[in-house]
Amino acid sequence: MDAYAANHFVKDIWYFAGLLSDIKPDGVKAFSLAGEPIVLAREGDTVFALRDICPHRAAPLSAGCVKSGTVECPYHGWTFGLRDGQCKSIPALPEDSDMDVERISVRTYEVRQAGPLIWVYLRSDPKDTRPPKIDPPQIDLPRDKPSLDDGVKLGCHIDHAVIGLMDPAHGPYVHRQWWWRSAKSVHEKAKDFAPRERGFAMVAHSPSSNSFAYKILGGKPVTEITFRLPAIRTEEITIGKRKVLSYTALIPIDETHTEIRQLFFTDHPTFRLLSPLMGGFARTFLRQDSDMVDLQQKGLKHDPRLMLIEDADTQAKWYYALKKAWAKSNATGEPFVHPVKPCTLRWRS
Ligand code: FES
Ligand SMILES: [Fe+2]
Repeated sequence: MDAYAANHFVKDIWYFAGLLSDIKPDGVKAFSLAGEPIVLAREGDTVFALRDICPHRAAPLSAGCVKSGTVECPYHGWTFGLRDGQCKSIPALPEDSDMDVERISVRTYEVRQAGPLIWVYLRSDPKDTRPPKIDPPQIDLPRDKPSLDDGVKLGCHIDHAVIGLMDPAHGPYVHRQWWWRSAKSVHEKAKDFAPRERGFAMVAHSPSSNSFAYKILGGKPVTEITFRLPAIRTEEITIGKRKVLSYTALIPIDETHTEIRQLFFTDHPTFRLLSPLMGGFARTFLRQDSDMVDLQQKGLKHDPRLMLIEDADTQAKWYYALKKAWAKSNATGEPFVHPVKPCTLRWRS
């Protein structure tokens, strides 16, 4: 188990930090990533990220406001450049003060925006000023505005949350309900997997369904589920020319808290119509997972040895292998060696 116990955060990678619409125009929002307090500040449609601790007396800048290219601290009004984090003004200084305020600065983080998605780069070495070595994952959204938006905070390390997310065997137990499945519906499955950029995919397949469902949707759906480091899962359902994208991002708040954000983007009219209903299902699922994580914490408190079995837990093993390979390549500068090979996994669920 020790090889899998590496409870470290994936670094030198882009983390999903939310949607542009999460932040009011010219507003600020607190964001916590791997124990680091960050303020997301929006000016127009551009988002900036700075350390959420004022270098003066530690007030959170996320309680302040955005003012002409700076964020203003709520305590004594010091302002910091959104781009460079440099202090621009200290209102308490007399007019003729010769204090060089620009020598004071607050750390900034690289931000990228792709459509409505905001990404923040987490570095292993905060002093490293080289440009990020990779781009955020390319995710093709059928629409910019999500049809569904839900989230839940889990009381566990992100590794347990990720493994819970990709675990195919808990469905019949944790998500047992009349409208989904019963213990009797458990059967053996065989799914093809293939490596993807810093991740892997359960390659496109047609989910079991009947022709009536296909008729409503206007074609035979094809689903591909992809997982990418650090913790982005997408399920892309293609029905004819339309697409439903289920987007799940896990964000490590700190060592013992993880946020799950679940979004659905679709240009499929029936799905959009059904989204309130789908939202109810998604919420039920997330709450069930969250309750199980809370239960699991009771056992984990005692730091027991854990197991991962073939093939039901193989994806969890791949997750650890990916993390390890990514960390190794960053530490040594050697190329990333992808640990996943194409294969078929079989399990009962
Ligand atoms: S604590 Fe921020 S200006 Fe004083
Ligand atoms: Fe689940």
